[in-house]
Amino acid sequence: MASKERIIIFDTTLRDGEQSPGCSMNLEEKIRLARRLESLGADVIEAGFPIASEGDFAAVRAVAKECRRAVIAALCRTTEADVLRAWEAVQVAARPRIHTFVATSDIHLEHKLKKTRREVLEMTRSAVHLARSLTDDVEFSAEDATRSDVDYLCEVLGVAVAEGATTLNIPDTVGYTTPAEFTELIKRVRERVVRSEAVTISVHCHNDLGLAVANSLAAIEAGARQVECTINGIGERAGNAALEEIVMALHVRADRLPFECGIETGELYPASQLLTEIIGFDVQPNKAIVGRNAFAHEAGIHQHGVLSNPLCYEIMTPESVGVPANSLVLGKHSGRHALAQRYAELGHFLSSAELNAAYTRFTRLADRKKRIYDQDLLSLLSTESRATEQFDLGKSTVIEFATTEA
Ligand code: KIV
Ligand code: ZN
Repeated sequence: MASKERIIIFDTTLRDGEQSPGCSMNLEEKIRLARRLESLGADVIEAGFPIASEGDFAAVRAVAKECRRAVIAALCRTTEADVLRAWEAVQVAARPRIHTFVATSDIHLEHKLKKTRREVLEMTRSAVHLARSLTDDVEFSAEDATRSDVDYLCEVLGVAVAEGATTLNIPDTVGYTTPAEFTELIKRVRERVVRSEAVTISVHCHNDLGLAVANSLAAIEAGARQVECTINGIGERAGNAALEEIVMALHVRADRLPFECGIETGELYPASQLLTEIIGFDVQPNKAIVGRNAFAHEAGIHQHGVLSNPLCYEIMTPESVGVPANSLVLGKHSGRHALAQRYAELGHFLSSAELNAAYTRFTRLADRKKRIYDQDLLSLLSTESRATEQFDLGKSTVIEFATTEA
């Protein structure tokens, strides 16, 4: 059997992720996270933007010294000072990469850079040339590529390749493209600019329309072989493509996406938890793969199905992404099976008559109360009238039937 093509996972949690409001990290936290990203199996870790601040410079340098397996990338604009500063920070890495970028859309050229197309072309030429004189591993990004004139974009990318860029990144900087449109763009870049296996096409998708992962997967199918992403999908504005979602899509839908990557999927949830702990805020409960409810089942019919065989409603096991166990949330949609199992876990093995009675009281309570606690369940076993008085709506001890917390 032919071996699967490899997708390079480029993690930018420490750079683009850190740029999102409330997500800044100190040096020690960045090193902790970088170690985790390396053990997770990220191929490339973008450690920061060295010219942005002394702190960023120190962090890139520290991560470059610490992580000896992954490629460590340092971001820079196309000025000489930027490129040299990036190199100064990252050169201590075992596998350093300079990642230089400039915008190519007319809107950015006119209103942000105040440069002509010709000037941006020359900026690309000199930055990639300089970077390539320092290291063999040079990535060039055409910022706002998806809103750029395609002919001009290809011209700029062509210059980057001619000067020795080894990775060409096509960012959807403002999360504007759609999967079909992005597919066409990647195919055009492939046909017109990249004629050598030595140049990797990369994509970097933002999530403003909630399409970052879908666009990244479409790009992979169209020929991209590097995806830039972040843990928990953190990043500028609505964030970047979520690493865990891309990786699990490749695993679960290997039938449609026959590619491999180096990520240890069982480390996804622990990595997500570490990031949450560092930045101090959780992902939304219904976030795919790593959200609190990602493997939780409340509706009775679903709970019954999952108890009989998890495959009824789970396309991957919680264990496969490092979540300790699935969680059945008791609420008004829950059924008798889940209730009986929870009672059994609490040491009460109910006869079917007892279960029926408890279930009737339970559904009445669940109509009034969003979360049912173990204490409530125990109260339901005593007299109905006493039990209704004991429900404490504010309790926070036991929230779910079984929690996903590690
Ligand atoms: O979103 C973007 O365009 C970027 C580039 C610097 C790669 O973050
Ligand atoms: Zn970005």
